[in-house]
Parts: sequence; C-alpha cells; structure tokens
Amino acid sequence: MSALDHSLQVLACPLCGHSFSRTGGSLRCDQSHTFDIARHGYASLTVGGGPHHHGDTAEMVAARGAYLGAAHYAPIADAITRAAAGSPAHGWCVELAGGTGYYAARVLDSAPRLDGITIDVSKHAARAAARAHPRLASVTGDVRALLPIASGSVGLVLSVFGPRRGDEVARILSPGGRAVVVTPRPSHLIELRERFALLTIGADKEVRLGEAMSPLVLTGSTELDYTVNLTREDIVNSIMMGPNAFHHDRAEIESRAASLPATLPTTVAVTISCFRSHPETTSYSD
Ligand SMILES: C[S@@+](CC[C@H](N)C(=O)[O-])C[C@H]1O[C@@H](n2cnc3c(N)ncnc32)[C@H](O)[C@@H]1O
Ligand SMILES: [Zn+2]
Repeated sequence: MSALDHSLQVLACPLCGHSFSRTGGSLRCDQSHTFDIARHGYASLTVGGGPHHHGDTAEMVAARGAYLGAAHYAPIADAITRAAAGSPAHGWCVELAGGTGYYAARVLDSAPRLDGITIDVSKHAARAAARAHPRLASVTGDVRALLPIASGSVGLVLSVFGPRRGDEVARILSPGGRAVVVTPRPSHLIELRERFALLTIGADKEVRLGEAMSPLVLTGSTELDYTVNLTREDIVNSIMMGPNAFHHDRAEIESRAASLPATLPTTVAVTISCFRSHPETTSYSD
C-alpha cells in the first residue's frame, strides 16, 4: 500500500472534514468533494486559489533540496528527533509547510512505527516530498486554513521555518500529542544577511510564536547554535531556497558570491520549541 493510501486513515476533506476514499486518480469524501492525485504521487488538497496559494517555486525547491542534501541542517533534524522523543512512538506525524519533506523523513528514519504526512502549498515541494520517504505521504494544502487532517488523530506535528496555525495544530493533536516548532533567531545566517542585504529576522519572533501557537502549551525550548562552512554554491542555494528568492535573482546572488572566499563560516541559530495539546481542544465544525 502506498503512503498516500495508508494516510487515508487520518486525511480529512479540507471542505467538510469528512474522511476520504480513493477512486482511481482522485480522493473523494462522502459529501462528493473530489481532489486529484497528481501522477507524481501527491494529493492536491488546496482549496481556493490566488497568488498566495503557490508557495515555493520549482527553483526554490531545487535550491532547498541541494542545500539540505549537503547535510548542513542535519543537526537541526537531530534536535527535532530528540525533541519529538516525548511524543507517541507510533501513529502519525504531520509536517506543516514541509517543503521537500526533509525533516519529516529524518524523524521517520528514527521512529520505525511512525507514519507521516507533509502538507505544503507548493506543488513543487509536494512533488519532492512524495519521494522523500516510503512512509511519508505528501499533499498540497494551506496550513493557514483548516488542515486536511482528522481531529485528534496525530501524535506529532512538525513546523520548521514555515507558517502554522495553533488552533488547527491543537485540533489535530491526539491526547498526549506534541508539536515541535523550529524558528530562526536574529543571528541565523547573519554573515549572509549582512553581505547580501537579506530580509531580517525579528527579535520578537519568540513572543509571536507563543501567540501563534495558542491554545497549545509550551513545555520547553532549546537553542541550537553552530557554524557551517558554506561553499559559494551553498550560499547561493541557502539564499535562493527561502523568501529572499522573491526579491533577488539567482544570477545577481551568484555574481556577488563570486567575490567571497571558497568557504564562509556561517552561523546557524535556531530555537526548537516543544508544545503539548491543551486539554480543552476544539473539534472540526461542519
Ligand atoms: C522556508 S520553507 C520551509 C520548508 C521546510 N519546512 C524546510 O525547512 O525545509 C517554507 C515552506 O512553506 C510553504 N508555504 C508557504 N506558505 C504556506 C501555506 N500557507 N501553507 C502551506 N505551505 C506554505 C512554502 O511553499 C515552503 O515550502
Ligand atoms: Zn468533503
């Protein structure tokens, strides 16, 4: 059985919250809402449209795949795995705005009885995530809207460098479930932010994180700091895989990177926060 077929245990229609069954190349709920399964193996569960519903471009996803493939953020994946140790060891893990599915795949590697689903609004990301791990299903969807996941069905939610909505995370978590959230601190990639005039990271991100994750309860947080030696190609990928790609083009970043030394020691500075579900969580209202 494919990871997507298996994920029908917990996937829910983003329009009505009812469960799906598969008919050929589509998923259909009992209210007859129907969603396509792309030939690349992911289900398209995005509802609505518009410019905010595209997410990362093919170029950004390729840059992210190359950068993460060089294992520069493997210590972040290890820290997530450690933080997730308090969550149920079997059942379901959902990664929000999961990009290429890198972090969910690493968590599944360390938890053989866990199955996963990544949700990302970008079809290019969803395509990459569909290949990331044999136990990882991939769907497109907007994590700022109702999540296409049944209430109380998930033991672990991951959110790494992406948008999230606390009330929806609280709704899908099972009793005893945990959410692990990774956010960058102001000094993250500071050497690149200064040289390339990149977007800055607000120092109030921690406060905003607590507010955004309400009604979940923060159970602990850890700061992870280390230095990576980035090649010029790594530097270009690290810039072009994130929101700066919407403000700069690759050729411009490449020509500025050409004047840098062969490798540049660069700061990685993130916070890993762990939340548990609040006892009084809401349920899907239809
Ligand atoms: C900075 S990337 C992080 C990806 C992944 N978590 C990682 O760290 O490798 C942000 C991701 O969020 C996705 N995204 C942006 N807005 C979204 C939304 N409203 N719903 C779902 N995904 C979204 C983008 O397509 C992109 O893949
Ligand atoms: Zn439906």
